[in-house]
Amino acid sequence: MIRQYLKLRKTFTVFGILFFLLLLFLIFSKENSGVNQRSFDDNIPKINVQFNDLPKAEKFTKLNIMEEKIVDSNSEDTKRELKEARSRIDQLEKKIAILEGRVPQKYPDVKFLGYKERKRILVTGGAGFVGSHLVDVLMTQGHEVIVVDNFFTGRKRNVEHWFGHRNFEMIHHDIVNPLYVEADEIYHLASPASPPHYMQNPVKTIKTNTLGTINMLGLARRVGAKILIASTSEVYGDPMVHPQPESYWGHVNPIGPRACYDEGKRVAETLAYSYAKQEKVSVRVARIFNTYGPRMHVSDGRVVSNFIMQALQNLTITVYGNGQQTRSFCYVSDLVDGLLALMASSYTLPVNLGNPVENTIQEFAMIIKNQVPGCRSMVAKSAPVEDDPQRRRPDITVAKQHLHWEPKVSLQDGLQRTIDYFKEELSRTTFYNNQTYMNMKSHN
Ligand SMILES: NC(=O)c1ccc[n+]([C@@H]2O[C@H](COP(=O)([O-])OP(=O)(O)OC[C@H]3O[C@@H](n4cnc5c(N)ncnc54)[C@H](O)[C@@H]3O)[C@@H](O)[C@H]2O)c1
Repeated sequence: MIRQYLKLRKTFTVFGILFFLLLLFLIFSKENSGVNQRSFDDNIPKINVQFNDLPKAEKFTKLNIMEEKIVDSNSEDTKRELKEARSRIDQLEKKIAILEGRVPQKYPDVKFLGYKERKRILVTGGAGFVGSHLVDVLMTQGHEVIVVDNFFTGRKRNVEHWFGHRNFEMIHHDIVNPLYVEADEIYHLASPASPPHYMQNPVKTIKTNTLGTINMLGLARRVGAKILIASTSEVYGDPMVHPQPESYWGHVNPIGPRACYDEGKRVAETLAYSYAKQEKVSVRVARIFNTYGPRMHVSDGRVVSNFIMQALQNLTITVYGNGQQTRSFCYVSDLVDGLLALMASSYTLPVNLGNPVENTIQEFAMIIKNQVPGCRSMVAKSAPVEDDPQRRRPDITVAKQHLHWEPKVSLQDGLQRTIDYFKEELSRTTFYNNQTYMNMKSHN
């Protein structure tokens, strides 16, 4: 009995030891596998770092191998998606190369200004015709320029020669929405200016000139900036006084096709003087008369662009009405000089800026026809345009007296530069849709 008991105890002890050893083995092997797992995880970032440090070509090879493995193990769909993605990347790379090629390596010369003289100047509508010429002058003077534009009628091409310059910034923004930037001066030019453009969306034109102007005046008040509002000779409507002095209150049809622009600008002026009176904002108001020059939109439907484009293509030059309506045309560099002089002056009432040399539309058609070499265009009359002002010529006594400004560029010189510009525009375009501008009736 005792012997049997001792034998049994020995057997249990042996099994106990074996069980203990098995347990130890299991624990050990589990720990070992945990260590392996951890060290593998720990290695992942190291692998990433090494991969990112690889030269570009090597990375691509690795990626290609990985891609091939994925493709091997995946369906035709994946292959197709990958192919599409590759061709898209190719397209984007080509586009980037073209865009990089368009950014000029060398900028026009810019004056250096110390921090006391250098101003931060906001130009709304700075990618448009007048705005882009103003931007050029401000930049070459050495100021920091911020252009705000929604590209409704403006084009990046007008200011692309400044892209990347440390003094230049471009903001794609619609001024109907508030804008928060810092500025010492604001030139508020944003608004479509040619009749076909402003009539295309009359409600938007009114919003731009009212809400947009409120936003800009509010900004000027907040940051203490001086603001110049680009108004227009259209505030005089179809004038009963000739030539038009600033004291003339105008003759505008408030519900006619031009009202969205004419009345919009009249409200813009009222807003400017309300902010000046109530909020002490420093305002300047320029009543701009017909201006022309390079960078005018080829299809904007204004008389200069219409006539030149028609003459360059030997198409009929269309005169709406009897052709006895008058206009006076100011070259864009003269206008820009006037805007700068007005901003710099202490004169706060509206100022007419335009060229007082007056021509009938009929005469003007002949002047352009004769100045385009080899032009075989006929000049033909067409039905009159509703609410077309019959006489327009600025009285620039105020500008002469307070700004010491008057236009310098002769009609012949200005037209030559403009014709050269349009010639180049035409040669750039292989396809030109005549309908776009031929149907835009206006003598603006
Ligand atoms: N050129 C003229 O003969 C003439 C005559 C009288 C008044 N003006 C005034 O001068 C200013 C400039 O005229 P322009 O001939 O250069 O015209 P434009 O159409 O070439 O330029 C106007 C610019 O304003 C931008 N713009 C329009 N609506 C905008 C909005 N809601 N937000 C942001 N940007 C907007 C356009 O994209 C464009 O770049 C206008 O205010 C116009 O009323 C011009």
